[in-house]
Amino acid sequence: MIELFRERFGSAEGLRVFRAPGRTNLIGEHTDYNMGFVLPVALDLATFVAAAPNADGKLRIYSEQRNELLEWDLAAVAGLKPAHQWTDYPIGVAHELVAAGIPLQPANLMIRSTVPEGSGLSSSAALEVSSALAFLAGRPLDPLELARLCQRAERNYVGMPCGIMDQYISVFGRQHSAVEIDCRSLGHRYVTLPAGITFVAVNTMVKHELAGSAYKDRVQECAAAVAGVRQKFPDAQSLRDVTPAQFATVAPALPELIARRGRHVVTEIARVGQFVEASSRGDLSAMGALMVQSHRSLQHDYEVSCAELDFLVDTALKLEGVFGSRMTGGGFGGCTVTMLRPDAVPAFKDAIAAAYHKQFAVIPAIYPCNPSEGAAEVKDLS
Ligand code: GLA
Repeated sequence: MIELFRERFGSAEGLRVFRAPGRTNLIGEHTDYNMGFVLPVALDLATFVAAAPNADGKLRIYSEQRNELLEWDLAAVAGLKPAHQWTDYPIGVAHELVAAGIPLQPANLMIRSTVPEGSGLSSSAALEVSSALAFLAGRPLDPLELARLCQRAERNYVGMPCGIMDQYISVFGRQHSAVEIDCRSLGHRYVTLPAGITFVAVNTMVKHELAGSAYKDRVQECAAAVAGVRQKFPDAQSLRDVTPAQFATVAPALPELIARRGRHVVTEIARVGQFVEASSRGDLSAMGALMVQSHRSLQHDYEVSCAELDFLVDTALKLEGVFGSRMTGGGFGGCTVTMLRPDAVPAFKDAIAAAYHKQFAVIPAIYPCNPSEGAAEVKDLS
């Protein structure tokens, strides 16, 4: 990266490199903005931002992937408006840093990423968090504040009303562990997964147009479900505050669609706890069954799956050594995550790729989901 940086900007003096990972979520989908629980792992796939100060008062950002270089006067950055392209992520972060009273310094940035874009593996959060660290250039910021600041960038500047999961796991990921996040208290605990299993993400290679607008619709539908719940449970602030049994008592009075949306969220929040508990007992088949229940709930009640995701899940469940499979991330394309025996992985990959290709004439990319460390400066630049 250093050579390319020097070639691009003329100098690499003072260069530092920051890494922030993508993620897969094992269970707890569309629960974060309902103040519930999620259980993601940070991946080896990550975004790297190399940054060095410059002496000409500019902010320059070069994307290696796009071979595109953008340049602004630093003083103009705070006044920029969303451009509806990749630069909105780092510029949104710059805006939030300024809003938090952290001044920007003139700098040259170069971005390299191994997180496939639009794949539901959280390339956006990886870009936000790595950019934030590059802008900070070693200035300290509390890790939780870092995650929240990046979430605000996405909500306020990019215009996506996302929850905290993606930015949080990119900051707090840990090698060999999943991270159970309480999206209300914003606390977490590390969950050591049992031996004898591994997780693999399979990419549908599609991203349906619906994703952004449907996400906003779901956020509103959940708000409608909370309003309904309050008729009987006036203290409820979010769907987190009712159990599936309590929700079932109010569901008949709700519009049918709102009842299904709410049912997904309350049962999914419960499934996260059950999954962590099954994991601590080493009950692999219970873990797998919960993943499948999660997928069916997302497919039928929350309606954020699609034909490609359903095909990958249904195919995975027929293959040797598979315990469970589900869509991961926001949905409408992107990836599934499958829990399986490590020795079954090679045959699984071959079989699922062949079946998917036969059905959709596309070869799916497949990624191992080895839990990795959260965002940090890369010290070894060799
Ligand atoms: C996207 C959002 C997250 C979360 C997931 C669904 O990845 O960015 O906050 O809501 O969808 O679980």
